[in-house]
Amino acid sequence: MIIAVDGPAASGKGTIAKALGRHYGLPVLDTGLLYRAVGLSVLKQGGDPDLEADALAACDFGDDILTDPALRSEAVGSLASRVSVHQSVRQALVQRQRDFATQPGGAILDGRDIATVIAPDADAKIFVTASVHVRAERRYRDGLAQGGHPDMDSLIADIQARDIRDMSRDHAPLKMAEGADLLDTSDLTIERAIQQAIALVDAQLEGR
Ligand code: DC
Repeated sequence: MIIAVDGPAASGKGTIAKALGRHYGLPVLDTGLLYRAVGLSVLKQGGDPDLEADALAACDFGDDILTDPALRSEAVGSLASRVSVHQSVRQALVQRQRDFATQPGGAILDGRDIATVIAPDADAKIFVTASVHVRAERRYRDGLAQGGHPDMDSLIADIQARDIRDMSRDHAPLKMAEGADLLDTSDLTIERAIQQAIALVDAQLEGR
């Protein structure tokens, strides 16, 4: 069984994917981490994330970078979005994601193109979204909790820039897949969003 969870930055898709993983007893892959690893490794190599050759060279990252705390930062999220527009970068990461998706027993993957490109035959597909303002507020609270000094205006600008880049790129743009169910978490608590996600997945699995 494969469950695909797609959606824009800070929509809550990661939290929902992890909760679905616990509920259904399935392993979860946060595919954004792979693009973040490429972004961070381009930075470490002194390359230019907008140059396809530099970004492709960074796809050869060692797995230890996947546990680097800097991976979760907003700056690396933006680098990840920039390297992810290159087709060769996406191609370099496809097999790893498909291998995870097709492991015996099933899997959950969250990202931007899971239901459209990586696993179009997924058994359940959820598209998680929330308003830009709500997403920026979540990032703001995360920033405060981590002892930072987040700025609401720049968070909104970053999220909008990332949405535009992720949705308008030529290769595997962020969009809702055919057969996916929309889950707007703007007005939902985490608990409620998780309950609704489980209900949507159950309904899709029953309707198979
Ligand atoms: O989900 P995230 O914020 O960690 O993703 C970081 C960036 O990586 C995102 O802005 C675009 C890219 N990405 C992608 O292109 N395809 C995916 N499946 C996951 C992430």
